[in-house]
Parts: sequence; structure tokens; C-alpha cells
Amino acid sequence: MTLVAGVDSSTQSCKVVILDAESGTLVREGRASHPDGTEVHPDEWWRALSEAFDDAGGLADVSGLSVGGQQHGMVLLDRDGNVLRPALLWNDTRSAGSAEDLTAEIGAEDFARRTGLVPVASFTITKIRWIRDNEPENLAKVAAVALPHDWLTWRLRGYGPAGSSPMGPNLDELTTDRSDASGTGYWSPRTGHYDLDLFKLAFGQDAREASRDTPQAGEAKPAPGVVVLPRVLGPGETAGRVHPACFGGTGGSEASGGGILLGIGAGDNAAAALGLGAKPGDVVVSVGTSGTVFAVDSSPVHDASGTVAGFADASGEYLPIAVTLNAARVLSSVAAVLDVDFDELSRLALEAEPGAGGVVLVPYFEGERTPNLPHAKASFHGLSIASTTRPNIARAAIEGMLCGLAGGLDALRAQGVRAERLLMIGGAVQNPAVQRIAVQVFDLPVVVPSPGEYVARGAAVQAAWALAGFRPDWPVALDATPEPDFRASIGQNYRMVSARVDSDD
Ligand code: XUL
Repeated sequence: MTLVAGVDSSTQSCKVVILDAESGTLVREGRASHPDGTEVHPDEWWRALSEAFDDAGGLADVSGLSVGGQQHGMVLLDRDGNVLRPALLWNDTRSAGSAEDLTAEIGAEDFARRTGLVPVASFTITKIRWIRDNEPENLAKVAAVALPHDWLTWRLRGYGPAGSSPMGPNLDELTTDRSDASGTGYWSPRTGHYDLDLFKLAFGQDAREASRDTPQAGEAKPAPGVVVLPRVLGPGETAGRVHPACFGGTGGSEASGGGILLGIGAGDNAAAALGLGAKPGDVVVSVGTSGTVFAVDSSPVHDASGTVAGFADASGEYLPIAVTLNAARVLSSVAAVLDVDFDELSRLALEAEPGAGGVVLVPYFEGERTPNLPHAKASFHGLSIASTTRPNIARAAIEGMLCGLAGGLDALRAQGVRAERLLMIGGAVQNPAVQRIAVQVFDLPVVVPSPGEYVARGAAVQAAWALAGFRPDWPVALDATPEPDFRASIGQNYRMVSARVDSDD
């Protein structure tokens, strides 16, 4: 059996799955935690990766590996391959002002046309602008800007700080993929190239794409003053091999020609789409800490309102996405107030009628990203003596969360994205009431794939793709296909109430 490993280096933890490359069957898995916080030193990801590999039984019998990871995080390297400062993650909002500055300087329409994005604090370009304006001591030393999966892939190949890595600090060996490059804000899904003018405008320094053809001065250091950006590899390509000195195992097999072949890696949302085998027409709704609604589509999207980010995917297509900040935690907050667990919340919600007796929760507990209301708060509406019951409150929480996600679906459709089927993933969708109410809120057939680590699985798809030379077509097991039962009035009422709230904020 040929084994491949997929990694999900996510915000909270590192997960590893090891699968049979032919069938996609899970053979073993492991995980390790990342520290909390919105600013994390990449060495912590490296430590967690090592622990997660150990937890998964090691790599000795693995032939291919690829790394999916949280998008947008800014990893700054100096000329000697050292990490200059802890990475600023996608959920670090200190660059919100820089996002506003960049939008004002370039214009939302122009920015969206050039990159598919309108700046928000999550995107890497706003973080490099923040460094320019706030950390001149680091600005002067920046020789390369990478993303979490780029840096981990580079380290796995043996590159790293001079003196403590087997291959040394060759920044021209940094690689990335289309999906993660498209979350930077200085790469264009439409042209497939970096927008180096935009990078310079944001950071004040010239940049170039890493290239094996660049003559290396002496010790493989790039010319000072020109920032290196990872080389963007295409779907199915390989990024190289895991260095035998990494994680104490050479691994490999006849299939890999000895050693462990490295896939190109991906941003987490694109990796999940790959792991789910999503095709044009499929819309994935992921209910986690944040909610994401994304689709694989065959043309690039640029939405000057910024509601939909026009990413690229990991298969050669595009990945329009809407992100809501209020998803699974809406349910935990309301369950805590009702003093019940998730099972009881579900039971209560199913006791209430669709529409929750007119009670509507607009769930902006964390402010909101779609719609763009960073300072908003959550609110209950439509409470009367008769309607204020525990079942109605429980149902309103689930309806409100799902209607927020349905807003993301509407935004995708408004950009011309084809939507024929919803694939719902994330821990919260195991809740029976969430499934039952989802088919009442969404006007599309809903399927619930079996619980699984789809980001890591998508990375494993890349590893198998690099090994075999073609994209594997692994089956995805379905846990539930709830009967369609669309109730237009739930969304109508929610939209009426939330429109009032949105215009007040
Ligand atoms: C996407 C986004 C998040 C991160 C977190 O724009 O910010 O989904 O990728 O993992």
C-alpha cells in the first residue's frame, strides 16, 4: 500500500492524516496544539508538526506529503533565513487601519480588479503595510515574505536559518500555490502573477518571485533591497522532497523514487474543497469558529464591495468565498445562557415551530465581516410574552446563524457563482437541529459529509496527485442527506430584521 500524508496547520492546532493513496482510506492520524493568540512564532508550528507526525505514528512508511494551512499569516524572513518576528495571523486585526489606507489609496474597484480582493485586516498586504508604518527596524531586514504553508514546506525540504538547517537559507527555494498566493492581496488570480507594483506600493520596497534561475551571490543570499516572494507552483506539481534529516525518517517507497515527495500545499479553504472533491455547482458551508461559504467556480470573481473574496482554488479553478465571523460560537453562547448542552439545545430548537414564533437572533456577537459591520453586536428581536420561550430562543439561535451563512450564499450567487448543492462541514453540523433547520433556510439540496479532517485530506490529495501524476478521485462518505423542506418565510423575516440592524450600525 502506498501511503500519503496530509497536514492541516490551522489556527488552533496541527492535524495530520495518513491515507492509502489509491482509495483515500484513512489509515492513521495525529494532532498537536498551537498556542493561542493572533501573533504566533512559526517555530511553534514546526514543533506542533513534529508532535503531530509522532502522534500519527511517524513518516517512515509515507511516500508523499503536502501541507494545507491557515491563510494570510505573514511570515517575515531575513537574508539568513531567520524568522524576523512572530507571524501576524489572519485573525489579527491591528492592520484594520492599514486596510482602510490601502483601499483609499488604490480604490476598492481597482484593488478588486487587480487581485480579486478588497483589503481587510485578514489579508497579508495589510500586514506588510502595518510593518512598514510601525516596525522600521524589521522593515529594513525583510528579505522574504511567506505564508504559513510556504514556510513549513520550505523547512520540510531542509531549508531554514543558516547554521541550523541542512540546506541553509536559500530564499529562492520558497514555494507557494495559487490558492494561498490569492489570499495575499498582491497576486492576481486573473493573470496568475504577482502584482509587484501593488506590493511596492504597500511595502515601499521592490519584490520579485523566487526563481531557481536567479544567480546566487556566494552563500545563496538574494540581492539586498529586493524582497523575495515564494514561487507559485501549479496544481499537481511537486515542491521537492522532505529532507532526510527532518523528523528522523527518510520514508518513501518505489512509488516516490525513494524519499517523501512534497505536494505544493494550499490555503485551508481550497484544501477543504479538494478534500471534499467539490466541483463547479457545489457550495461548501463550513461552520467552525468562523463560518465560510465557498464554491469552486471556473471564472475569477472580483467584487468591489469586498463581500466576496475572489480567491483561486487548488485545482486550477477559482474559489469565491464569503466569511462570517459568527458561526459555531453563536450556538455555544446561546446554549450557555439557556444552561444546556448541544444535544439539549437541538432538542429544544426542534420543539419550536419554523420561524421561532417570530423571534429573530441577528448573531453579530463578534461584529461581522459579511456584511461588513466590524463594530456590530448581536440582538434578539420579536420577543413578546408569548414568544419568549426556551424552544423559540434555541431555534432563533440556529436560524440566525444559518441565515447569516445564507447571506454568504446570496453574495456568491450575486457574483454569478453556480450553486446547485450545499456541502455542510464542521462540528456544529452534526447537531440534528442544525441539519433539520438548514434545509428550511437554504433553497438548495444539503448534504452532510461524514465528519473528517477535510483540509488535511485535501493536502493528502495534493500529495497523491504529485506522486501519481493525476488528481485522485477518492469517494467522500456522506453522513446525512436531509430531506429538502425550504421555508422562504424564515429568510424573509431574518432579512427584514437584519436590514434594520445593518443600517443602524
Ligand atoms: C479566509 C480566512 C480563514 C483562514 C483561517 O479568508 O480568513 O478561513 O484561512 O483558517
